[in-house]
Amino acid sequence: MADTNASTRTLSIDIGGSGIKVMVLDENGNAISERARLDTPQPPTPEAVMNTITQLIKSVGEFDRISAGFPGVVRAGVTETAVNLHPDWVGYNLASALSERLQKPARVINDADMQGLGAIAGKGVELVITLGTGFGSALFLNGKLVPNLEMGHHRFRKGETYEEQLGRAALEKVGEAKWNGRLGKAISSLQHLFNYDYLYIGGGEAKLVKIKLPENIKIISNLNGLLGGIALWRD
Ligand code: BGC
Repeated sequence: MADTNASTRTLSIDIGGSGIKVMVLDENGNAISERARLDTPQPPTPEAVMNTITQLIKSVGEFDRISAGFPGVVRAGVTETAVNLHPDWVGYNLASALSERLQKPARVINDADMQGLGAIAGKGVELVITLGTGFGSALFLNGKLVPNLEMGHHRFRKGETYEEQLGRAALEKVGEAKWNGRLGKAISSLQHLFNYDYLYIGGGEAKLVKIKLPENIKIISNLNGLLGGIALWRD
């Protein structure tokens, strides 16, 4: 018999510089499908990424609405920057494109913001950084998001930005030991700037963090990038 009380299912999409991931969540934000992943297409134009998403959703089943995290500044569903994707994303209405393509309502925010929503406790000043292709950042006060923080493109040290010193290209160039040393310096710099109560470190490379962390700093799973999708619909 059909379940007439089936809860609202949210398709959560995490668009990254190296991979695109999707998963369906129930009303409480729990996964109700496998996580599906495909490499980010090259060149990562809006059209190519939209085709990859269309491909990916074939394996995750039904959903009623869509949440997407995008690796750039997002305002009212429109992507304004995309340094690790393609210039065609500037001014692209991703929320409309997703809802037209998949025929469901869609909401889009910055990927680090979405990751943070899946991880924070909702108390005090909470900062999130994500270590992946790029360097993501998100700031929350008592659970309320300050959108599009973009620390990654701020000057950090030696004339370079946080992303130039700690993004995947830097990690591959200087190796894990040096990268960990740089991360320690970045944490100290961010601590003095934000005086956060908690710092969360996520993203695909967070598993490589080897430095000893104080109690108010937590490594979070990359899965939070998708789990945060449910929070976009909490009005
Ligand atoms: C982008 C951010 C994004 C981060 C992680 C940076 O290059 O500017 O918007 O959150 O990469 O993907």
